[in-house]
Amino acid sequence: MGQPRALLAGSGIAVPPLEIDNDTLSRIIDTHDRWIRERSGIVTRFYVEPGTSSSDLGAEASRKALEDAGVEGDEVDYIVCATMTPDHYFPGAGTLIQQHLGLRPVPALDLRQQCAGFAYGLQTVDALIRSGIARTVLLVGCDVHTSLMPFSSRTWEVLHDESKGPLEPEDFEWNSRFRHLLVLFGDAAGAMVFKAHEVDDGRGILGARLYGDGSRSDILMVPGGGSRNRPFVTPEMIAGAGMVPVMDGRSVFKLAVTRMPKVTREVLEAYGYTLDELDLLVMHQANLRINEAAQKALKLPSEKVFNNIQKYGNTTSATLPLCFHEARQAGKAKEGSLVALTALGAGLHWGSVLMRV
Ligand code: UT7
Repeated sequence: MGQPRALLAGSGIAVPPLEIDNDTLSRIIDTHDRWIRERSGIVTRFYVEPGTSSSDLGAEASRKALEDAGVEGDEVDYIVCATMTPDHYFPGAGTLIQQHLGLRPVPALDLRQQCAGFAYGLQTVDALIRSGIARTVLLVGCDVHTSLMPFSSRTWEVLHDESKGPLEPEDFEWNSRFRHLLVLFGDAAGAMVFKAHEVDDGRGILGARLYGDGSRSDILMVPGGGSRNRPFVTPEMIAGAGMVPVMDGRSVFKLAVTRMPKVTREVLEAYGYTLDELDLLVMHQANLRINEAAQKALKLPSEKVFNNIQKYGNTTSATLPLCFHEARQAGKAKEGSLVALTALGAGLHWGSVLMRV
């Protein structure tokens, strides 16, 4: 046996308590259930209570993944955390998760690849375990999008059912400026535990094909709140919606429907597999229409694709582990199953990771 492989030992998820359906959103945004369902497939999403951060959700998912894996905290010798909504600008969420879980001091790495963050994380775990740097790695994807939502306290009161509304017209108008964006996102976390696997039986993370291309960074980004600005954040920036993500939805859509199937084919070919041999494709959950088009392009039957965007919306770094975990619970990712995890998001970053469960 040469290098050990990174074998999945367990997975877990954390979903916050506040379930928001499309009708509830239409009380605060000029939108309606039909538009959201038809254009995105989303029916509900979940929001955290005020004060709950990405590391809180990440720690909850991690506890469940460790329990599922039967791994004691002391065994974890590396943490990799993907999030685009860390609790603070710095430090990252990795060490905060280590602290929440009461783990001993171990390396804790934060990744910033947005919707492709967990795919990058899987490649990192593969490299850490194959190289012998780590033997038991906790990989977490967590995002709290509600921290980016530009809602007033009056809007939050309506969402939290503390006020029946109706909203002031200026709040409704302000929220509706971002309606193409706000209806898509939800909060969640997912985690996986990987262990070094010494048996040469073809199981474990097999490899990845990942890409980054900054020439398209403008189509999905937060323009304010960074080192390009002095100071970092100003009241004018906030008033002018500079802290709200900017998204050219059509461009992202077009790139996702072509690149996700392409990179999935590429990773399969690179490691000597065909689409027929693939048992399950888990794609980033940004839009059900994107995933249906990608499935069609790959000519994959429905039983080989799993989507749960209908329930959770787009949860960025959490989508791949959240979707994989539910697919696994539904019996679609059994021991020995060949699974591809494919994503595309801001950066641009995209890629696909192949693993045998
Ligand atoms: O993780 C990566 C992140 N993002 C993505 O992957 C996003 C990919 N893109 C998408 O999912 C789609 O582009 C969206 C769902 C965001 C938008 O769908 P679309 O079919 O591209 O719609 P659109 O933005 O071109 O807007 C069509 C119409 C517009 O009205 P007019 O100009 O035709 O009168 C919008 O104002 O729909 C209107 N609209 C809405 N109407 C009701 C946009 N958002 C909404 C809304 N409710 N929430």
